[in-house]
Amino acid sequence: MSAAPSRLKQAHTPSGGSEGHAVPSVGAAVSLLDIRNLCAAYDGAEVLHGVNLQVDEGSFVAVIGANTAGKSTLLRSISGLLPRTKGQILFRGENLLELPAHQIPQRGIAHVPEGRHVFPAMTVEENLWLGGYHRRSQMSDLRHTMAQVLTQFPRLAERRRQLAGTLSGGEQQMVAIGRALMGKPGLLLLDEPSHGLAPKVVQELHDALVAIHRSGVTTLLVEQNTKLALSVASHAFVLQGGEVVLQGASSTLLGDSRIREAYLGI
Ligand SMILES: Nc1ncnc2c1ncn2[C@@H]1O[C@H](COP(=O)(O)OP(=O)(O)OP(=O)(O)O)[C@@H](O)[C@H]1O
Ligand SMILES: [Mg+2]
Repeated sequence: MSAAPSRLKQAHTPSGGSEGHAVPSVGAAVSLLDIRNLCAAYDGAEVLHGVNLQVDEGSFVAVIGANTAGKSTLLRSISGLLPRTKGQILFRGENLLELPAHQIPQRGIAHVPEGRHVFPAMTVEENLWLGGYHRRSQMSDLRHTMAQVLTQFPRLAERRRQLAGTLSGGEQQMVAIGRALMGKPGLLLLDEPSHGLAPKVVQELHDALVAIHRSGVTTLLVEQNTKLALSVASHAFVLQGGEVVLQGASSTLLGDSRIREAYLGI
């Protein structure tokens, strides 16, 4: 995908604007996830330059952007996988940047990384159980979640005893998402789940994401596939060069000529 034209930069929504960047007054609704002025760097090179982004409880939010925009870096920052971060990532009011990475899944954040990463020599079912490891003391509840995940992904139910390494790319993506759901997440982070999938499989993924959200899972999806992202999310942020340059309702962005030209090729 080509980089977005620089004129999108001029559409930057200033921090403190009407989309919830201001410090909320007492009693005002606070977002489930509230990222404030996030900067993140690798080996001295800053990649995110003051990102502000909110995800409300129960919502489906997308982050779209071209290659190297910083989408994966954003999700890695939320999951505590980057040592060099500044700003605040408030989840239910707690700053995740002050927590060690291993405590973040326990707070209810599940991250499906780029590239799926299933355990190829384990069965589908074993892969799924791993996602519920930190809930192992609640075995009956965990069995209930397993039943829900297998209902959600009938293809995985059919293949539950098959080695994950022998599945198709789309099926492996379902395992990775199903594994995250086993943790009963309060927030699901999805990094580029459509990458490398055939159009028909992307449609199946679309339907699965809609169903997961309808089941009550708050979702933050990062995608280069703008069409998919804007068709499942109700609100989206456009990341360009490590900055949020535009945000709004997906329906509004879909009609925006700059988005259509730069990200949808229309
Ligand atoms: N481990 C790393 N060490 C150094 N630089 C990195 C590392 N990972 C990413 N970067 C750099 O950070 C920038 C943002 O990368 P990131 O992977 O977040 O982009 P992205 O939007 O997810 O791109 P893509 O759509 O290709 O996945 C890029 O310039 C990349 O080269
Ligand atoms: Mg990425």
